[in-house]
Amino acid sequence: MRKTHIVGNWKMNQSTEEIKSFFNELANESLTSEAWIAPQALHLGLVKELATDKFKVGTQNSAYEDNGAFTGEISPKSIKDMGLHFTIIGHSERRSIFGETHEVLNKKAKKALDNDLTVIFCIGETLEEREAGKVEEVLSEQISKGLKDVASDKVILAYEPVWAIGTGVTASPEQAQDTHAFIRKFLAKETNLNADKTVILYGGSVKPSNVKELLACEDIDGGLVGGASLKAETYKGLFI
Ligand code: PGA
Repeated sequence: MRKTHIVGNWKMNQSTEEIKSFFNELANESLTSEAWIAPQALHLGLVKELATDKFKVGTQNSAYEDNGAFTGEISPKSIKDMGLHFTIIGHSERRSIFGETHEVLNKKAKKALDNDLTVIFCIGETLEEREAGKVEEVLSEQISKGLKDVASDKVILAYEPVWAIGTGVTASPEQAQDTHAFIRKFLAKETNLNADKTVILYGGSVKPSNVKELLACEDIDGGLVGGASLKAETYKGLFI
């Protein structure tokens, strides 16, 4: 019922040459799942031009207003205007490095949805929080505050344990499945989202060698992938 999604989060990486070879190398591949890419903002035009119909393109961030005096921000209205499909909101790097709060993320998510964009809303605990037994508490707060008053079928959740992002350490399939099952139950009980239909991605060192066992888990509907999405070869290997 829920489609598998493989979402490449390119973060602040890739040159124009690397982007061209990425799409060149994938030109004849039939990718079996939803294939999404979020390049850095400067490359959106190029990626939009090179990405064929088998890809959907989106952004890594989106502002909480459509227009105005917000130097350096990315307007959700312009994202829509460019024909892009989605935006990532609340990545742990946005939360920890750029200090984005639950309230700011809630405003960003709502504005993006107002513009008819799909929102990939990221949540996840730090290692310290996991070791202190606070996973459910942390995720509950991130969801209830970040998605407060949100009712839409255009929300995707991405569970990304902070300790697994870019570290090479992946949550075990059991750990990830347990947490995804908790998230789905929480969505059903405490939010206005349709829990059964909501796609929940796992993120954190997903790669061709571990993607299969992660995707085999009942409540894992795809991956939000950083490092392994940068090269055509490894991106392709995420489609099973
Ligand atoms: P990673 O990044 O796959 O390099 O761990 C995932 C993410 O931050 O979305």
